[in-house]
Amino acid sequence: MPRKLFVTTALPYANAAFHIGHMMEYIQADTWVRAQRMRGAEVNFVCADDAHGAPIMIAADKAGKTPQQFVADIAAGRPAFLNGFHIVFDQWHSTDAPENHALSKAVYLALRRNELIEIRSVEQFFDPDKGMFLADRFIKGECPKCHHLDQYGDNCDNCGAVYAPTELINPYSALSGAKPVLKSSDHYFFKLSDPRCVAYLEQWTQDGKLQPEVANKVREWFARDADGKSALSDWDISRDAPYFGIEIPDAPGKYFYVWLDAPVGYLASLKALLERRGEDMDAYLAQPDLEQVHFIGKDIITFHTLFWPAMLHFSGRKAPDHVYVHGFLTVSGTKMSKSRGTGISPLRYLELGFNPEWLRYYIAAKLNPHVEDIDFNPEDFVARVNADLVGKYINIASRAAGFLSKRFGGRLSADLGVEGQMLLDGLRAPAQALAQLYEDREFGKAVREVMALADRVNAFVDLHKPWELAKLAGQDAALHDVCSVCIEAFRLLTIYLKPILPALAVQVEAFLRVPAMQFADAGRALGAHTIAAYSHLMQRADPKLLEALFEPPAEVPSAAPDPGGEAIAAEIAIADFAKLDLRIARIVEAALVEDSDKLLRLTLDVGEAEPRTVFSGIKSAYHPGDLAGKLTVLVANLAPRKMKFGLSQGMVLAASHADTQVDAGIYILEPWPGAKPGMRVR
Ligand code: 2FM
Ligand code: ZN
Repeated sequence: MPRKLFVTTALPYANAAFHIGHMMEYIQADTWVRAQRMRGAEVNFVCADDAHGAPIMIAADKAGKTPQQFVADIAAGRPAFLNGFHIVFDQWHSTDAPENHALSKAVYLALRRNELIEIRSVEQFFDPDKGMFLADRFIKGECPKCHHLDQYGDNCDNCGAVYAPTELINPYSALSGAKPVLKSSDHYFFKLSDPRCVAYLEQWTQDGKLQPEVANKVREWFARDADGKSALSDWDISRDAPYFGIEIPDAPGKYFYVWLDAPVGYLASLKALLERRGEDMDAYLAQPDLEQVHFIGKDIITFHTLFWPAMLHFSGRKAPDHVYVHGFLTVSGTKMSKSRGTGISPLRYLELGFNPEWLRYYIAAKLNPHVEDIDFNPEDFVARVNADLVGKYINIASRAAGFLSKRFGGRLSADLGVEGQMLLDGLRAPAQALAQLYEDREFGKAVREVMALADRVNAFVDLHKPWELAKLAGQDAALHDVCSVCIEAFRLLTIYLKPILPALAVQVEAFLRVPAMQFADAGRALGAHTIAAYSHLMQRADPKLLEALFEPPAEVPSAAPDPGGEAIAAEIAIADFAKLDLRIARIVEAALVEDSDKLLRLTLDVGEAEPRTVFSGIKSAYHPGDLAGKLTVLVANLAPRKMKFGLSQGMVLAASHADTQVDAGIYILEPWPGAKPGMRVR
């Protein structure tokens, strides 16, 4: 019986285009699904837009669209990304689709019948201008701890303090600027603290469905207090109108909190898919051997390991079999940030002519089954694509194919010689183990293993030198055998890489004139067989294009029509400019300054004998850890300034709005790669 899998990725909020972090998750799941299918599994792989919630409602309003129109426009942009990177979902749906309205209500009503829903009055901030309750992220004010201004309602960006919005000093609505008032309203709670839920989840989270590190983390949430009461608290699942969401049955003006109906969207998407095929979802999910698998990021573990399995189980449904959690994607070691321009736009990547399978390969090469962040490092990316993917793997075909078509009409030799046969046996032996690595999401290991096999093939080629055999009389048979071994080896490696490189594999199948390859095909030899003419399969990556890959910093929000806020200064002569000595400086270290809200202490290498210390008012825009190692520009001949915190020996250049009240950000200057500390800027 084939294995049956229902697989999802997290449903992205329908408020923005995909960033490269989304692509990582989709590439991981798509690769896993493809590997399963290559082993004969029947997989339904679905996703959907997560359409609801206050942020989307507000964004739609700002854009002058209805929420429905707004999410439809976002949805229309999805295929360019998905098709572009060969990510194939069987269904792309929306949590605002009728299936999801019906299913969410059904789940809720079943929980209510099970006496797991409770109504309680909750006191919350209300925006009197907008006539709506404010989610934490729409309340701002002064941090009660460090007194930094303009902090969000739940935690402080500056000092990391976590608090309730009611603790903010001088709170204001981020939507209208109005002073919010406290107001009570009835909220609906899912009673997660019910002993039935606690007992069920304690079991469900600890019986092998989760990665060990996730299970350990989750275990902490079950810690009991002195009375033996679990620390799980009930979950507020309602929001008051106005809200873009699904109305709660028998509760006029109340909507499901977006996180209640979002995961139900997995089922709604599956239902739409199966109905399209004339199948019944309940019957499908009732199959005892069906496995339900969710791929998610580490920021949404709680929802998928507590709320979601409990919702499913206590509404009489099947709970997930696995939740596979991945870490975040960093770019050159830095957390992605639009405002600092470190993100990589997936569409720009494609527009620049980068091969989508380079990214699939690179991400796969870095992935493992653990909750670890992985880094996109541009130089490493080019090196791996060019040296490994093209240099080791593609090259095998290009080294052998020409001789085969020119000298042997594309016909492979059936008798490959002892040595060639041994090489191929060695390449076939790990087929099972490689399939298992895919199963275990050990993609990095799988890639390393395949590259090690490619090394063996290249060593064989180097030893037998087909280019020399081709010149020698009477060596036709040897040349034929060596090249045939290469092609057979290339076929095997292509099978092993096919989950990662699906489009390339299709090209290879056409070149080899074979049907769609499965894992089992590694066990058979191609034998005497005629292949098609070779045309080049994959280019090398051009390192020069990398610069263009990085997004420019995000545009200043349209609230500030003039991004600078000041007129151009009076004209100067070149001699005036020459008085400024601007130097490239490397930030050796950036540190917080005690008792200063604004400053960071920068230690700068300007190519002098001693590093310089400069105090810079950029604390609100940069975390010290993000700066170390970066290059910037220093005014090197500014008179040193004695400050309360020490001597400041110069000034680093940064862009900002003239009016410090305008939240346009602060952006320090960074030279293009290649600049060295001490170089003069002129
Ligand atoms: O964190 C997010 O981006 C959510 N939109 C994920 C939802 S996953 C599922 F529950 F729908
Ligand atoms: Zn603070």
